[in-house]
Amino acid sequence: APVPVLTIDGPSGSGKGTISRQVAEHLGWRLLDSGALYRAVGYAAGAAGLDLSDAEAVTRCAQTTKIRFQPSADGSDTRILVNGHDATDELRTETAGAAASAIASIAPVRQALVELQLGFRKAPGLVADGRDMGTVIFPDAPFKVFLTASAAERAKRRYKQLKEKGLNVTLASLQREIEARDHRDASRAVAPLRPAPEAVLVDTTGMDIDQVVAKVLTVVQP
Ligand code: C5P
Repeated sequence: APVPVLTIDGPSGSGKGTISRQVAEHLGWRLLDSGALYRAVGYAAGAAGLDLSDAEAVTRCAQTTKIRFQPSADGSDTRILVNGHDATDELRTETAGAAASAIASIAPVRQALVELQLGFRKAPGLVADGRDMGTVIFPDAPFKVFLTASAAERAKRRYKQLKEKGLNVTLASLQREIEARDHRDASRAVAPLRPAPEAVLVDTTGMDIDQVVAKVLTVVQP
């Protein structure tokens, strides 16, 4: 039988990252953070001084950038190595998110990342977190979830996260960035953000993490 996949798609700040990680832990399945791949390519392109709208140069960068996920020394989290450099902290910034969103609209860049993503599908199962996991990368996944939350709620969550990390941001600017990125992700020609027709929609506005995890687990284990 094919290795089962649970796809979790949705806009930024819907809680996908945290939910996907906890659900994967519960199930004992592997985790694919596909957003980190786009962030890594955006970061590598920026570090190389490329113009992010230069589709050919950024595509070559996507084809050659070495991205590795590696457990930290104490096993408490995953570090992301981009061409051998630990870029985990840089990849979490809003700047990296915006760069990711810009290069993610280039079709051959997305194509360059397909094989890498398919390679995460290993027994006993995979939780795949992203925008197009259920629609493009794993269309045959037996389990699909689409997480949403209001833009105001997502901005609040993001604000809290970034403040805890000591980053200097304002709530209003975050909400504007989130809305702009949503718009770009949903209106782009390639792999626009939209739920797969068979995805279970979960609106997480007003729900806490445990409630969302429990709800998502029922999709896999009814
Ligand atoms: O999920 P995350 O915020 O890390 O994703 C960063 C950006 O990468 C998104 O705004 C989106 O433009 C892009 N992305 C994508 N397809 C994915 C995952 C992320 O286009 N599967």
